[in-house]
Amino acid sequence: MMNREALLDLYARALESVGKAYAPFSGFKVGAAALMEDEEGNVRVFTGANVENSSYGLTVCAERVAIFKGVSEGFRKLRAVAVVASKDGEVIPVVPCGACRQVMWEFGDGETLIYNGARTYRLSHLLPDAFKLG
Ligand code: THU
Repeated sequence: MMNREALLDLYARALESVGKAYAPFSGFKVGAAALMEDEEGNVRVFTGANVENSSYGLTVCAERVAIFKGVSEGFRKLRAVAVVASKDGEVIPVVPCGACRQVMWEFGDGETLIYNGARTYRLSHLLPDAFKLG
């Protein structure tokens, strides 16, 4: 469904977004890019960065920022996510946290791709037997 070039483009957008991270507490800057589709079949990329807060628990991950941007613009189908982090100038591949995996599942499916520069996962691999209402 997605070729390698499209995934690399998505990764480039995630890498750009690392520079937008607000991470004064952890110093762990994360960028994400979500490839999303609306009901008419239009496809768009939404980017996000982590946004921390002095009340630490209020921090939101880059992946959720990107996905919520898309959903709030009417793009509810999540096809792929690229994510990458940087700390002390070093690029670090990120595997999304559990909360972000559950949010990905809400808008994606088992086939949703997650690419972090080191490897590609399917969401069914990162979140097997996902919670469903009913
Ligand atoms: N973070 C993300 O943005 N995405 C992840 O998948 C894991 C963690 C952020 C949250 C926090 O700002 C920092 O990384 C350290 O946990």
